[in-house]
Amino acid sequence: MKILGVSFGSRNGNNDTICRVALEEAQKLGAEVEFIHLLDWNIEHCTGCCACSVGLVTGKGNICTRKDDFAEFWNNHVLAADGILFVDPIFESGCSGLFKTVMDRVGPGHDMAMNIVGDQISKEAGGPGVDPRFLQQKVTSYIAIGGSDWGTRAEADHAMVSLSPGWRVIDNQRFQWCKDILMQEDKLERTREIARNLVEAAKDIENAKPAKPGVCPHCGCNEFYIYPGTKNVVCDVCGLEGTLVEEDGAFKFVFNPADEHKAHDILSGKFLHVDDIKDNEGRLAYLRTDETFKAIKKKYADMFPPVPAPGK
Ligand SMILES: Cc1cc2nc3c(=O)[nH]c(=O)nc-3n(C[C@H](O)[C@H](O)[C@H](O)COP(=O)(O)O)c2cc1C
Repeated sequence: MKILGVSFGSRNGNNDTICRVALEEAQKLGAEVEFIHLLDWNIEHCTGCCACSVGLVTGKGNICTRKDDFAEFWNNHVLAADGILFVDPIFESGCSGLFKTVMDRVGPGHDMAMNIVGDQISKEAGGPGVDPRFLQQKVTSYIAIGGSDWGTRAEADHAMVSLSPGWRVIDNQRFQWCKDILMQEDKLERTREIARNLVEAAKDIENAKPAKPGVCPHCGCNEFYIYPGTKNVVCDVCGLEGTLVEEDGAFKFVFNPADEHKAHDILSGKFLHVDDIKDNEGRLAYLRTDETFKAIKKKYADMFPPVPAPGK
């Protein structure tokens, strides 16, 4: 079994070291381990060209127009592991910029439902189907490392990378006040526990369960969007809608069980999203040839030319 540790921190900083502490524990349990310091890799931003989605729904398979190190990172390292631990510094109360870039690059092109649909479309057209590695299940864990107590968006940000392929999140930990984390034995021991949980989960990926419950009973997220002026809340990760009720001195997230199939992290919810996008694209396909739409677009394309980037 292979465990990959990916650090998004500075070279040999706290994130790298905590990642290595976890890998040391995984190795003790017999796992083959690999460490990636992702800042060394050339990972470019997603430009929103949508070639990944279009490629899948037109039977052309997995496409990305960015020519950088992402495909090597994801296809040959992340997808070659059974369990992946991402260790990420908290920046501005959430994930790091590099992590957000990875989140977007994983995005629609690695969505499990999109790949199942893309596989069918490609094979029906006599093609090879999608890269079979994109149809695998994995187990994942996250550690967020902050220098202070600002960081309440980090766990939800992190869970989004697993949401796209529909992978199970085993632990999603946020450590605060971490300048001296390597001297804090409780956090080092929790890191080793996260490694042990990940190794255990990787032994039976299909039946793996989150190590700890969260406020959302569906996905374990602790972060919610409140519609202003209402009691309606949305889980920031799985998108289930419900309300918060007080029980035994604590808030509990309650949703209609009949809605659970809509959750964004499971295939049923993902297929609803694929259908929604398909309907929307179909309904709006006329825009490509609509003269009024083209005229408005042209008006604004000709207005306020962008300041050229330096050197261009
Ligand atoms: C741009 C920036 C923003 C940061 N924002 C936060 C923050 O909102 N909350 C927090 O706890 N730490 C914050 N930090 C501290 C980092 O989380 C900390 O420096 C990092 O985890 C150290 O990791 P490293 O030693 O692996 O490089 C910030 C650091 C930087 C550089």
